[in-house]
Amino acid sequence: MTYQTLLFEIKDGIAFVTINRPDKLNALNDQVILELSSAVDRLTTEAEIKGAILTGAGPKSFVAGADIGDLSRQGPFDGKARAQRGQAVLRRLETCGKPVIAAINGFALGGGCELAMACHIRIAGENAKFGQPEVKLGIAPGYGGTQRLPRIVGKGVALQLILTGEMIDAQEAYRIGLVNKIVPSGDLLAESEKMMRGILTMGPLAVRLAMEAVDQGLEMTLDEGLLLEANHFGLLAATSDMKEGTTAFLEKRAANFQGR
Ligand code: COA
Repeated sequence: MTYQTLLFEIKDGIAFVTINRPDKLNALNDQVILELSSAVDRLTTEAEIKGAILTGAGPKSFVAGADIGDLSRQGPFDGKARAQRGQAVLRRLETCGKPVIAAINGFALGGGCELAMACHIRIAGENAKFGQPEVKLGIAPGYGGTQRLPRIVGKGVALQLILTGEMIDAQEAYRIGLVNKIVPSGDLLAESEKMMRGILTMGPLAVRLAMEAVDQGLEMTLDEGLLLEANHFGLLAATSDMKEGTTAFLEKRAANFQGR
């Protein structure tokens, strides 16, 4: 697929995916969602891609939400279908099996905050701003905000953000646990890449199963989640990577994981 609204570049195993509508602050119109869906397919299926960094074009915005022009024309059924399409793309991103970092360079509002929350790690530039302002438009979050935000920051703070529509800065987002780290805006991509390169030196099967256990475990009872964790632990014990990781430690050298 040729992208009109995304930049997609693979650099030494990392896919850099940039939402590229800077004149509209990278708002998610239907075309962006379609292209993001194709990008997620590539992340999931291409062996050359080991992890991804998602960002927005320009200095001002990660993603300023769903495209309000599109929303203004929707009725109840296409509105529901739009929400479900967006939700499905974000869920496939979240479960693509490879680590994804959101590098948040400015506004992450509405669908932008929801997209960032579907990533595994969020790194914010100092100028980042977050919010779920949908209620100001007479709608509620539709790309997972009502579900992921309380899971990340807790019900009380999530409801405050969703009901007031207030915008918070990077420091506040860090304080409530919405972002993992704040870095100088000029260093955002380099810092995101540095963290990703670190993750990519780990055993990829271990990283994949750890993400899966956290994701699935949040929907399970503690006992079910612990069983899932033990099953993953046992499965990983059958891999060459575990042999390599433990042997490398005992031999006081760096591990060289092969993902098998
Ligand atoms: N959908 C469609 N277009 C959007 C948009 C969105 N979510 N967010 C910004 N834009 C467009 C603006 O309409 C403007 O386009 P124009 O130049 O053709 O008029 C352009 O992006 C620049 O935005 P502007 O509002 O002029 O920038 P600003 O710096 O004054 O304000 C924001 C920035 C983010 C505060 C403001 O754009 C905003 O509130 N956006 C909507 C955020 C939102 O409600 N998102 C949730 C949607 S569900």
